[in-house]
Amino acid sequence: MKAIEVVGLTKYYGSFLAVDNVSFEVRKGEIFGFLGPNGAGKTTTVRTITGILRPNSGEIRVLGYDMLDEREKIRARERTGIVPEMANPYVDLTAMQNLRLMGELYGMGRREIERRSVELLKLFDLYEKRNVKVKAFSKGMKQRLILAMAMISDPELLILDEPTSGLDVLSARLIKDVIREEKRKGKTIFMTTHNMVDANELCERIGIIRKGRLIAIDTPEKLKQLVKGSVSVEVSFEPMKLDPSEIASATRVELMGDKARVFTNDPDATVKELVHYAERNNLRIVSLKTLSPSLEDVFIKLVGEGND
Ligand SMILES: Nc1ncnc2c1ncn2[C@@H]1O[C@H](COP(=O)(O)OP(=O)(O)O)[C@@H](O)[C@H]1O
Ligand SMILES: [Mg+2]
Repeated sequence: MKAIEVVGLTKYYGSFLAVDNVSFEVRKGEIFGFLGPNGAGKTTTVRTITGILRPNSGEIRVLGYDMLDEREKIRARERTGIVPEMANPYVDLTAMQNLRLMGELYGMGRREIERRSVELLKLFDLYEKRNVKVKAFSKGMKQRLILAMAMISDPELLILDEPTSGLDVLSARLIKDVIREEKRKGKTIFMTTHNMVDANELCERIGIIRKGRLIAIDTPEKLKQLVKGSVSVEVSFEPMKLDPSEIASATRVELMGDKARVFTNDPDATVKELVHYAERNNLRIVSLKTLSPSLEDVFIKLVGEGND
């Protein structure tokens, strides 16, 4: 069973098509990233899969429950922790009171709420501030509390809309560490982000959304391979010599000082050829490494394609 299954999801605001026939699956136990620029349709997707917005068409299953069925939706929500975009804790309540309120909403017992709240306050480095009203919190502290609130019932699935966006470095790092730790404990995380670095660091699979359409879905490394020709192998031999005509898999070779940059569509073949070349010519390999395009290259290539 998949954690999330979305088939043909379509959502209009009036006549504006915000999400266009999007289909994807989130496997149990993975960190899945939904990456796209502002206005791409990430929040709309999150709001439909969490049952806040009703799609115009499409099927949505969360933890096996049909999100278009009111009763099943409630079941799914009981087992899911959600961080909506621009969520806010109650600012006139303390961190502890916000957590209590959330625990009560989930129908947890008093003792369990206290135990779990203390655990989460410590995890998110808010324990010292537990009795301070949230209005005195920084943006990063508020966002850490929001995530703690979403995790109060120890949900098996977390759905996070831009969990680290616009935060100070330390808060963002802490949140990323918690996301990884939840994954390690077997939890599933679906998160949106417009930040390629975060997507690359955290996610095992990424869906790239642009203007309401899912334009790619794969692992970060495989997405990087989409940028054909910009994968290269950097090699340094001693003594340095390289005859480009002997590396059949190379699309282009740049010689620079004591090394060469060999561009290729097949880095595996190129590395093997370079090793054989060195053996045949009695050269010592000083260094040999594959340089991948960054996820940013992929993003620019995919998102930049077409000018509609
Ligand atoms: N309530 C709404 N009414 C009309 N248009 C909306 C509404 N919410 C979002 N949009 C539009 O839908 C598109 C997708 O928005 P959104 O899902 O918030 O994107 P993202 O989260 O990727 O930035 C944007 O063009 C946005 O302006
Ligand atoms: Mg958004």
